Amino acid sequence: MIKVSTNYSWIAAACLLAACGNSASSDKSAVDSTATKAPATASVLPDANLFKDSLDGKPTALYILRNKNNAAVAITNYGARVVSLLVPDKNGVMTDIAVGYDSIGKYIHQPESYFGAIVGRYGNRIAKGRFSLNGKEYKLATNNGPNSLHGGLKGFAAHVWDAKQLNDSTLELTYLSKDQEEGYPGNLQAKVTYTLSGDTVNSLKIDYEATTDKPTVVNLTNHTYFNLNGQGSGTINNHLLQFNADRYTPVDSTLIPTGKIEPVAGTPFDFRQPTAIGARVDSPNQQLKFGKGYDHNFVLNASKGAGLNLAATVLGDQSGIFMEVWTMEPGIQFYGGNFMSGSNPLKGGKRDDHRTAFCLETQHYPDSPNEPSFPSTVLQPGKQYKTSTVYTFSVKK
Ligand code: GLA
Repeated sequence: MIKVSTNYSWIAAACLLAACGNSASSDKSAVDSTATKAPATASVLPDANLFKDSLDGKPTALYILRNKNNAAVAITNYGARVVSLLVPDKNGVMTDIAVGYDSIGKYIHQPESYFGAIVGRYGNRIAKGRFSLNGKEYKLATNNGPNSLHGGLKGFAAHVWDAKQLNDSTLELTYLSKDQEEGYPGNLQAKVTYTLSGDTVNSLKIDYEATTDKPTVVNLTNHTYFNLNGQGSGTINNHLLQFNADRYTPVDSTLIPTGKIEPVAGTPFDFRQPTAIGARVDSPNQQLKFGKGYDHNFVLNASKGAGLNLAATVLGDQSGIFMEVWTMEPGIQFYGGNFMSGSNPLKGGKRDDHRTAFCLETQHYPDSPNEPSFPSTVLQPGKQYKTSTVYTFSVKK
């Protein structure tokens, strides 16, 4: 089903991961004594009634997708976002691994606005909110220090999408981003399709498509905050993370890539073997200081063909839930929840404490419109933007 295109060292690394299994006692994983236990009781889906509202003249709702294994994902059309994602842990207990709120009002009004969302028109940062295309400069809203982040003041995450549930396991969402919205050129018709499958393994696929009527830039991604031990269940620092990435894009103090692509070898960015997220997060490294932890784009090792490539794996140390991320994108932003501060009330009375979730945002590199050496994010009229990412969920006992 999923086309595997990989290199030899990654296979070796994957074998190593399988061999080390759920070894929460390995050296690199024993970094945080505040880790809490996985929830003993099954998670439940949010109340759909709390998502019925209207915004900018459009109705909001909660859509539930299920597969034959009873895995489930709840998605709202406000920001086309994942609200809950229920998969079994190593004991078969359904565990909600996606951080989120329990009502539409909280998504609209709470300070953290990216939980689970599709971000666009440009996921991540564009330096100083400016770029040039065909000799013309475009000025975007700046909303992150001097830079534009995740589409600007009102990016795709803050709009109500049109939703169509195609069957029990597929939801299609569309959004028309008008010419000059947030300063971007061209009417961009975007479509995101979520599919929850369960044939060989539980998996959530996200297909992204877009067309434009003027040359523009596009970089869509999903901003789910994962905690594989269950949302709100404590630190993610003991999760074991692995990237199929020999290189990353170092940043300046405002988190804009310097333009260099550097090896991860010998740095805290080396996740080529499964390593506890928190093992080196506080080490004295300038890049980690700039990010207040991990907030960096990893350059995925080149694929041997078109299609999905294995980008990352993560193991929940308490739950045994093992996630693989497969993507067609050239990069992945790893954000370790450094700005989380316990100020947002999560589902089930939980809180978004510091570093209790991580994001793996499959993407083109940040600031590509200003870096000619990075893979291009330009979309021309008559061409189709088309990319997919799949998250698979299994368990390691
Ligand atoms: C991205 C950014 C982070 C942060 C989060 C949202 O991952 O890279 O710096 O803004 O989104 O909080």
